[in-house]
This record gives sequence, structure tokens and C-alpha cells, in this order.
Amino acid sequence: MTPIQEKHARYVLTPWLPQAGLVAPVICRGEGVHLFDTDGNRYLDWASGLIAVNLGHAHPGVAKAIADQAHTLAYAAPGFFNEKRALLAERLSEISPWAEGCRTFFTTAGAEANDDVVRLARTLTGRSKVMAAYRSFHGGSGLSITLTGEDRRWHGEHMGAAGVVRFFAPYPYRSPFHATTPEEETARAMEHVERVLLHEKADTVAALLIEPVVGSNGVILYPDGYLARLRQLTERHGILLVFDEVMTGFGRTGAAFASQRLGVTPDLMTIAKGVTSAYIPLGGVMVKESLAKAFDGRAFPCGHTYAGHPMAVAAGLATLDAYRDEGLLDRGRALEPILREGLGKLAAKHDIVGEARGLGAFFALELVKDKASREPLVPWHGQGMGVMKDLYANLRKRGVVTFGKFNVAMCAPPLTVSEAEIAFAISALDGALGDLAKAL
Ligand SMILES: Cc1ncc(COP(=O)(O)O)c(C=O)c1O
Repeated sequence: MTPIQEKHARYVLTPWLPQAGLVAPVICRGEGVHLFDTDGNRYLDWASGLIAVNLGHAHPGVAKAIADQAHTLAYAAPGFFNEKRALLAERLSEISPWAEGCRTFFTTAGAEANDDVVRLARTLTGRSKVMAAYRSFHGGSGLSITLTGEDRRWHGEHMGAAGVVRFFAPYPYRSPFHATTPEEETARAMEHVERVLLHEKADTVAALLIEPVVGSNGVILYPDGYLARLRQLTERHGILLVFDEVMTGFGRTGAAFASQRLGVTPDLMTIAKGVTSAYIPLGGVMVKESLAKAFDGRAFPCGHTYAGHPMAVAAGLATLDAYRDEGLLDRGRALEPILREGLGKLAAKHDIVGEARGLGAFFALELVKDKASREPLVPWHGQGMGVMKDLYANLRKRGVVTFGKFNVAMCAPPLTVSEAEIAFAISALDGALGDLAKAL
């Protein structure tokens, strides 16, 4: 270990992992789709950080906007009006899925946005319960971790999950409903969620919160009709439908939001990550105009010191300028067939790749012991990453960094990635998967 690695291991607590034995490259620079470490190694950022750096690293326009803002006004209380905040909220309204537009409440991160959207839904409906899916991630804060439907929740559960009701959502590759076709999966998943609703008493449910494409839990695409039918179901019962677009927003799926790509419009959306391409922490709750109006005559029930922080909104506005000027919000549509073909070839070639799936620039490889049994290559909710750690280490040696959860590895480069860079990553994956299969 270098002296900095030693200091890091000694003094920094790293999220979610056992701390003993942690060692990682010391990243000191980013440029385009690449990261560089202090040993002079270059890595292709195959997961856009944590699926967030949609613009790629060191975009000059965003860097300049942040520097200019720091020199002009680094902070003003949220009660003051601010030009960049107004312009960013206007731009979000313009690219939102709502013809009526929206207003945005800015937060510092996705977790905080999910905490706040639950409070808004409860305030707006006067109901207390919130439905969220298993195998979901909604953030690491007090409430958002209780909305989360996987093992990261277990640590935070003692903080109380009052009113959070969970259900199983579709997972076509591993149907929780023993379905054999997408149509069956949708029909059975709907029957299940309707049954949950019946037993919970629908008129006690304020909101149903869902990732329109499951993100860190494995880039799971819902079968046709599922989200549309959830839309109908929630409407029928006066339940607010909330899309957590923290990971799927800002071009990741080939449209501004997954809502537009998938043709289903929620009532509220939470955002973060891509809104600033992760250059500065920023999240938000986008509230459609007809709901936001409710707060004209009553106090808005959320607030933070950093709500609409000038540095963050300046970065957000410059990021949205770059997405627009460089045509990136729909570039995922062009990247999709290239990624599908490259990753599909890996799935066909390697027995340990059970499925390559995704849309836009949002793909993943699900690894299995063998294709027939589909047994996950490493156990879910196990201790550590098992052999997935070896895969990621091997990829790093080949100049590619990514991450994953359980037995699923993320393939979600910045939207600026070139075809040659995709080919480079696919070739690295090919080699690393081959090595992993040999070592098993
Ligand atoms: C879908 C989703 N929601 C919420 C969050 C939490 O966002 P943050 O880490 O900015 O709090 C994440 C983070 O990965 C996410 O993927």
C-alpha cells in the first residue's frame, strides 16, 4: 500500500463494506470516460461512477460554471431567490414528463429526496402508508433505507419502517411468481400487488414508490404493461405513483427520464446523480404542477440548509446545458444496440453469463454457476462479494472499472462513450470472464 492508501484505510470509513483489508486505487484525475490513479493507471469508467457521471469527467462547461459560482456566491439561504435555481427548476419542468410542468424541491442527494417525497405524499393525501418493492434501493438515510428492499436495509431497520409496506415486483429472469412468459409475469405481479393492497386497505396508502428500471439491484426491466398497470391501479385508489429516477434519469435510458422512455407518467419523481453528472451533490423532488399547487395555501413541509445550494444548482444548470447542446439525453438510444450486441455476444460465449440485459446506456451482466440452473454465481445477501471481487480486480488490471451487487455487474458508461471505447470494455470483460470461469 502507498502512504495515502494506508492513511485512507486507517482514517476513512468506507460505505457498506467491512473495513479490514480494504484497498483501492487512489483516483486523482478524471477526463472524459477515463479515471486516472496516482500510479499512472488509466481506467475506463464503465459504471459512470455510481451510474451518475452521465457527462463523463471534467466537462469544461460544468467545471467553469462551478468555479464561477464559487467566486460569485457560494451560498445563500434557501429563503432567498436565486437565478440559477430558478433556471434549473424551469429546465427540469421543460424536460419533465408532465405537459402541465412541475415545480422542484431541491435536496442534497437521492436519499433525502426519497425521504421528502414520502412526507409530501403523506401530506398531500392525508394517508400514512407507502408501498415499496423488494430488491430495490432508495438510499442510505433514515427513511429511505427503510424503503429499500434489500440487505443494506437490515442495518437501518431498527430506525423503524413505520408505514412501509413491501411487495415483490417482476423479475423476468427469476420470476418470483413462477411465470414462464412476460405476459404471465405482469398478470401475476399485478394480482400480487392488488392482493397486498387489499390486505393493507387501499385508502390508507399514500404512495407507491418504485424505480422504473431497478438499478443497483441488477438493472431489472419490468415486463411490458407492468408499470402502466401500476399507474392504473394507483389512480383507481387515489394513491400517488412516485418514480425514483435517481439512477434512471438524465439520459441513462435513452430519454430524459425512464418515464418518457417507458411511456408511463408518475405523479412525482425523485432525482439526483445525473442532474449534475455527480460533479456536486444535488437531488430533488419533482412535483407535477397540479399537486405542487396544493402548497400555495399551506406550508411546504420540508426544508434543508442546502436546499437549492447555489453551487449545486449552478452545476445542475450547466450539466443540463451540456446534455442539450451535445444531444446526450437521447444518445442512449444510439448506444443501446451497440451495448446489446457486445454484451449479448458475451452472454452467448460464456456459460457463467446468465443474462445480458438493459436499455439505453444502462446494462448489466447477471452471472450464474451455469445457464441451465441459473444458480447465482455468488449468493445474494451473502458476506462480501465472493468471486465477483476477483472479476472487478481483473477488469481493473485490464483498464476497466465497474461495480455491481450480488451476482450482477454494471455496464453503464458515460453517455459520451465512443464505439471504440465500448469495444475496449467488452474485450476486457471477455478476458476477465474467461479467467473467472477457468478459476472456478
Ligand atoms: C434508485 C436510487 N435511489 C436512491 C439512491 C440514493 O441516492 P443518494 O446516494 O444520492 O442518496 C440511489 C443511489 O444509488 C439509487 O440508485
